[in-house]
Amino acid sequence: MSDVAVIGAGYVGLTTSVCLAHLGHRVLCADIDEERVARLSKGEVPILEDGLPELLSEGLSSRRLTFVVGARQAAARANFVFLCVPTPQADDGSADLSSVEAVAREIAPVLRRGTVVINKSTMPVGSTRLVQRILGESGASIEEVRVASNPEFLREGTSVQDFLNPNRVVIGCDDPSVAVRVSELYRSLDAPILVTDPASAEMIKYASNAFLATKISFVNAIANLCEAVDADVREVALGMGYDQRIGFEFLHPGPGYGGSCFPKDTAALRYTARRAGYAFSLLDGVVEVNRRQHERMVEKLTALVGGELRGRTLALWGLTFKANTDDLRDSPALVIARRLLDAGAHVRAYDPAAGERAGAIVPGLEIVSDPYEVCIGAAALSVLTEWDEFRWLDFDRVRDALEAPVVLDTRNLLDPGALRRLGFTYEGVGRS
Ligand code: NAD
Ligand code: UGA
Repeated sequence: MSDVAVIGAGYVGLTTSVCLAHLGHRVLCADIDEERVARLSKGEVPILEDGLPELLSEGLSSRRLTFVVGARQAAARANFVFLCVPTPQADDGSADLSSVEAVAREIAPVLRRGTVVINKSTMPVGSTRLVQRILGESGASIEEVRVASNPEFLREGTSVQDFLNPNRVVIGCDDPSVAVRVSELYRSLDAPILVTDPASAEMIKYASNAFLATKISFVNAIANLCEAVDADVREVALGMGYDQRIGFEFLHPGPGYGGSCFPKDTAALRYTARRAGYAFSLLDGVVEVNRRQHERMVEKLTALVGGELRGRTLALWGLTFKANTDDLRDSPALVIARRLLDAGAHVRAYDPAAGERAGAIVPGLEIVSDPYEVCIGAAALSVLTEWDEFRWLDFDRVRDALEAPVVLDTRNLLDPGALRRLGFTYEGVGRS
């Protein structure tokens, strides 16, 4: 059993905390948000994540998991300190490391001899050395405190499952004995552990996210081409996926990828490439295809309602960047909603998890709490997030509520044949 501090109680930090406590470690999780710490200490989960409430309650009742305000207090008692604070996109596309740097300066004076500081936030190549340098300059002994990179690969919505069943654990460290100590935290997991130098570990994280983004932009481009030549992208993706070198995953076309990571991490990797003097035109293309894909959904909808959005009422189902999460960060649905509003439409939306918060983020967006109510008098309905509940609604009722029975299904979630039999005009992505 190790004493672990986790700094940042967000999607990654909170998942890391409850899972490490579940694996038997003593975890002190710190955040600067006092209200968040108070709620977590009472067992209230501030985010939607399957399995988190159960593991939070297990951790609290076993007393292996405690929450505290401020990084310093947590770090002072730990053998391992995980940095799980945000690394958002700066104006120039680079990763903004100011939270990481602030935490490193804050904890440096209190770190115990032999403590390992672990960069779990997504940080560009050079960050392990950067954190080591800041710790040294801020009062930690360089010989006694070491830094390792241990990037996180979990997905939102399945974060607990992903953390406890990782495809791999990557540890980047110059000192093999430190890497072994970090790997022991994960000993009870059945996963390959890859130990590399820090720069390679940092690059593995960005390369993985950029590759997944590339798969999505690729299938979106193929979907657009399928529309032009009358092929069905779902059949195409299936036929491609049987090739084990390609695989089935991340070949679902849609409105373009979003979320708190792919957009910012592809931007940061492009920045790294620019700084390194490498013309990463493939990645430039991936990002451009994605940007165009959001726009393409607006164009499709405009065409479906007869070419004019001004003054029309439009209904949206789903606002989060994907299903089974309440995260709205960089959601394609919000990009699309803003475009529709800018074009003069009246936009009404329903989301099972994040409607109210979306309404506060997007001025002018009307939020309702019922998927049928949203359709009343609308010129068309757009499915923007693939929430499973949308499949099972009463489409007779939906048709009767709409001004015209028109559906744009940007996630290919619904059954076109069934809808057409009910009288709908149906349009998906990459299929007729
Ligand atoms: P988040 O915004 O959900 O959580 C970050 C938390 O850190 C917040 O609760 C915030 O209050 C807290 N915080 C900020 N500054 C602090 C400080 N000085 N001291 C203590 N707490 C502080 O972020 P996230 O989604 O968990 O992402 C964190 C990092 O992990 C990012 O680098 C991200 O790229 C990476 N990552 C995220 C995911 C994901 O699915 N969200 C997956 C893999 C990696
Ligand atoms: C992604 C990665 O999958 C994680 O491995 C990584 O740890 C994480 O980013 C991160 O670094 O933060 P996440 O953002 O939670 O996880 O969500 P994904 O399931 O990857 O979906 C990202 C976006 O791509 C969503 O908008 C989703 O709708 C879209 N997507 C995904 C598609 O359009 N098609 C697909 O086939 C798959």
